[in-house]
Amino acid sequence: MDKHKSSTLAIPESRSVPRHVAIIMDGNGRWAKQRFLPRVAGHKRGLEAVRATVKACVKRGVEYLTLFAFSSENWRRPQDEVKFLMQLFVAALEQEIEKLHANGVRFRVVGDLSRFEPRIVRLVEEAEARTAENNRLLLTIAANYGGRWDMLQAANRMLQERPELAAGFSEADLTPYFSMSYAPEPDLFVRTGGEQRISNFLLWQLAYSELYFTDTLWPDFDVAALDDAIRSYQERERRFGRTSEQVQSSRRVARISAG
Ligand code: IPE
Ligand code: IPE
Ligand code: MG
Repeated sequence: MDKHKSSTLAIPESRSVPRHVAIIMDGNGRWAKQRFLPRVAGHKRGLEAVRATVKACVKRGVEYLTLFAFSSENWRRPQDEVKFLMQLFVAALEQEIEKLHANGVRFRVVGDLSRFEPRIVRLVEEAEARTAENNRLLLTIAANYGGRWDMLQAANRMLQERPELAAGFSEADLTPYFSMSYAPEPDLFVRTGGEQRISNFLLWQLAYSELYFTDTLWPDFDVAALDDAIRSYQERERRFGRTSEQVQSSRRVARISAG
């Protein structure tokens, strides 16, 4: 059922370009404030950074890009800002999907959609269906997403389908029920805007992701900023619990068997 193995059950293959990049797009409000603009102007510019990042990921050969657009805690913001973000989401769904489709991007949304207006849910379903056959890049937007929500919905759905597991279950039993079970775990996690926290993003899936924090505000994030993040990633040694010596010798073995 779950074609992607968990990083704690099997050591994933290391590639020089991260296969899955997950980004907390933070700093829109501060970007606007620096320019004496309303916060929402920062969100508008943030959408342009999304376009640039999707393009850059396609170019660099990233296979999965996951963007945190709205957290389960963002409802706590002023009503006007929440309303603006919803309108921006609708506008993006209406205007961007054909372009994504033309570029071979598959589009998906994860999060608790039950709190969204039916119109948004319908647009999301249409966008997912329209792009379902594409395979150049899988773009996931996390909307009303929370890592804790994801774990709870996974456990609840699993127990509903397989009540016998109430007596005890394994990681392999649970992982197919996570909302992103269709993707490998993120290789590279990026947070813009200077804060160094996870803010209830992919709590389970980030177990062995390389973490990269940058002060760059999200509206300023561009292909050069993405390349900086990828370069930092390439300098890491991903050990997954092993020693450095073990990692080196497994690389040698891989090189020899590749000829
Ligand atoms: C991220 O930017 C966008 C969302 C959370 C929707 P912020 O709006 O959090 O920007 P700052 O952190 O206030 O600068
Ligand atoms: C995280 O950013 C959520 C998104 C980018 C969607 P926040 O700006 O909401 O995070 P906190 O509140 O500073 O932790
Ligand atoms: Mg913020």
